Amino acid sequence: MPNLIAIAKTTEIPENEGRAFPVGDRMIAVFQVEGKFYAMDDFCPHQGASLSAGWIHDGCVACPWHAWRFQLTDGTWMDNPKIKTDTYPVTIQGDEIFVDLPQAE
Ligand code: FES
Repeated sequence: MPNLIAIAKTTEIPENEGRAFPVGDRMIAVFQVEGKFYAMDDFCPHQGASLSAGWIHDGCVACPWHAWRFQLTDGTWMDNPKIKTDTYPVTIQGDEIFVDLPQAE
């Protein structure tokens, strides 16, 4: 069962940029690329930089600290595809962005 959380308005995220939003005890980065929105954990698994401040290129976000690149669609770390950061399904309703977060157990 989806757990849709309203996280932001579409107008809050410029094209080819990301923004981070608090949801519970975590920060979720939301990116807009070519009119589509993507959501992943904002916390870089390397040393914790904010991925929302990274550079978007070729379907990936590059971390602003050491340029590790993560695929926007599924969070794959491009240097080692066995490692991923968490991504979340995004739904748009009107101008509202919802992310589907797993329920706390
Ligand atoms: S903190 Fe993200 S690559 Fe180092």
